[in-house]
Amino acid sequence: MRRRLEGKVALITGAASGLGECAARLFVKQGAKVVVADIKSHLGPDLCAELGGSERASFVRCDVTEESDVEKAVDTAVSRYGKLDIMFNNAGIMGPVKSSILHTTQEEFLAVLKVNLVGPFLGTKHAARVMIPAKSGSIITMGSVSAVMGATGTHAYTSSKHGVVGLVRNSAVELGRHGIRVNCVSPYVVLTPMSRKVLGLDEEEDTGEAVHSSLEGAVLKAEDVAEAALYLASDESKYVNGTNLVVDGGFSVHNIGFEIPGLK
Ligand SMILES: NC(=O)c1ccc[n+]([C@@H]2O[C@H](COP(=O)([O-])OP(=O)(O)OC[C@H]3O[C@@H](n4cnc5c(N)ncnc54)[C@H](O)[C@@H]3O)[C@@H](O)[C@H]2O)c1
Repeated sequence: MRRRLEGKVALITGAASGLGECAARLFVKQGAKVVVADIKSHLGPDLCAELGGSERASFVRCDVTEESDVEKAVDTAVSRYGKLDIMFNNAGIMGPVKSSILHTTQEEFLAVLKVNLVGPFLGTKHAARVMIPAKSGSIITMGSVSAVMGATGTHAYTSSKHGVVGLVRNSAVELGRHGIRVNCVSPYVVLTPMSRKVLGLDEEEDTGEAVHSSLEGAVLKAEDVAEAALYLASDESKYVNGTNLVVDGGFSVHNIGFEIPGLK
């Protein structure tokens, strides 16, 4: 069967665990060579070995808030595999889980923006640097339902994810003129180290259910998010630019406080 990323080179930030790791596994399975960029130096190299070693995957220690790290990660993709076709700005953090703005410090707010918004800015900038001469590429940034609605994350998290959509739209217009597509994928809750922390679940605990989903019978898994990113990464989405692909089973379009009689 034809592999959907055959011959392509991808860089995924925050790929040593969680949704990024799942995307790295799927992208390699679909024929891509993948640079795994993360601050988790204790996990990244083992994942790359499991994915087939340096022929298929390479780990680069990269803090997405450091421009020189992001620059180095992009350059590693080019020097090791010859080019960069796909940039997936996936790394993100929630920050301290506090509901009130009164208890949120400026430092805490900025720290989340640095990873979740400045990180994708740097990733988009340096991917564009090598994609513009090639006149092609797909840049994907990880959003969230918190990119399209309020009160599903902390103030800093929601602000950062809304910001990401603006960055995607702006850069899609500029980079589209160079044949580069820029899109966003915005999932609902998936159990990963990050969401377990937010929901107060330990490593094994499973809610088993989609919370407040309006889609009966389906629970969002990391693989579903990776499949959405795969679509945006592949040539199957060749005319899709500047979009935010929301993968939430309809959660964000459903006002659960309002029911039309007879419509359930
Ligand atoms: N899990 C969810 O329910 C969910 C829902 C919507 C969106 N998201 C988004 O998906 C992305 C991945 O989240 P996840 O749930 O897999 O979280 P995770 O904590 O499981 O994984 C995040 C990864 O990013 C890495 N990372 C953190 N800071 C970094 C930095 N400064 N530089 C480089 N890497 C860094 C971590 O080391 C980790 O490997 C995030 O952008 C998150 O906001 C997650």
